[in-house]
Amino acid sequence: MVLITGGAGFIGSNLVQYWIHTTQDVAVNVDILTYAGNLHNLAAVIGNPRHIFLRADIGDTEAISRILAKHRPNAVVNLAAESHVDRSIHDPDAFIQTNVVGTLRLLKAVHAYWSTLTGSERDEFRFLHVSTDEVYGSLDEADAPPFRETTAYAPNSPYAASKAASDHLVRAWHRTYGLPALTTNCSNNYGPYQFPEKLIPLVIRRALAGESLPVYGDGQNIRDWLYVGDHCAALRGVLERGRPGETYNVGAANERTNLEVLHRLCDLLDEGKPRRDGKSYREQITFVKDRPGHDRRYAIDAGKITNELGWKPAETFESGLRKTIRWYLENQEWVANVTSEAYRDWIALNYGGYGERAGSA
Ligand code: NAD
Ligand code: DAU
Repeated sequence: MVLITGGAGFIGSNLVQYWIHTTQDVAVNVDILTYAGNLHNLAAVIGNPRHIFLRADIGDTEAISRILAKHRPNAVVNLAAESHVDRSIHDPDAFIQTNVVGTLRLLKAVHAYWSTLTGSERDEFRFLHVSTDEVYGSLDEADAPPFRETTAYAPNSPYAASKAASDHLVRAWHRTYGLPALTTNCSNNYGPYQFPEKLIPLVIRRALAGESLPVYGDGQNIRDWLYVGDHCAALRGVLERGRPGETYNVGAANERTNLEVLHRLCDLLDEGKPRRDGKSYREQITFVKDRPGHDRRYAIDAGKITNELGWKPAETFESGLRKTIRWYLENQEWVANVTSEAYRDWIALNYGGYGERAGSA
């Protein structure tokens, strides 16, 4: 049995579904259901006897301890987090509370549970902490090599700093208390069920709504994109074959500037859902004020997970993007369901200065 925290969010709900479909295991899904967590993401597995959803805060030691004692998982995968960089700039406190304090309390509860295990149950137990490449900071030099597991931490946003702190706590719980913990640091994910505040789903939603497609700064910032299904396969590999105490970088070597991503998205939407006026969605691209502290480039060297654990991504950026666009076109109701009043408030706060309708490219 695996316990997945944050299993109602983007990656978590993909992982829960992946787990149910590719293993015979039971997945216990613990999520507090913030604005980013949504039971609509789990419609395909709600009612499945191998999926147990429990609403709880990872920072609620008593609730988590009770859940661990009752369900007795042999692994915990921690995805619960505040995950959006722009929100961390507006409201850092929530990031410290969940990503740092929440992870601390989760580690304490998991350690106490693990200490009660004996024999092979104790030896085989794993705690997998899902983290980000943002902890390594920004690759500002044009020829800087991609992030490796040995790259020094240099987080730049409140989000990245909170994730870096949580990674250090996980490391300490392994080194000091012997907890069999592993950490993954992954690049930008995209795919089904991603909340439309992140670049790719935001652009798809706004393009179809005839709204401007906001590009921060000069659009030359580079991200390294990974299809979420490939991330799920990597997490399974690390759980099953990873060495406790180790960290593994996960990425698919798909570096693109944001403008390249927008252009490809617009071209694929032009193919799949042409605008009524026959013009390209590229016309909706609008350059807007940059994100403060905006990291210039991320890139992952995934050599360790490939060489040690045999993981490789199955999707190319092109195949992953096509799948993603198809999913959003076929799931407009999901988009409508998750874009609540609170979502509209966020859009007004973050993009308030430059309106809802399309501007010039
Ligand atoms: P998300 O924001 O879509 O989902 C986060 C989930 O955590 C939500 O369901 C939310 O309700 C839940 N949650 C928040 N606070 C909680 C708490 N205190 N207790 C229990 N549940 C809580 O995030 P995501 O994009 O799916 O990211 C999941 C994890 O992967 C995060 O830890 C993130 O840092 C990491 N990560 C994300 C990416 C990416 O590109 N999305 C890349 C690398 C790493
Ligand atoms: O690198 C992994 C990280 O990727 C994860 O740890 C984070 O949880 C996840 O949110 C993501 O962070 P980014 O900040 O890279 O993702 P986001 O989708 O917010 O932005 C991607 C790039 O696009 C970034 O350079 C900022 C830019 N951007 C974003 C938005 C929302 C725009 O130009 N316009 C926008 O409106």
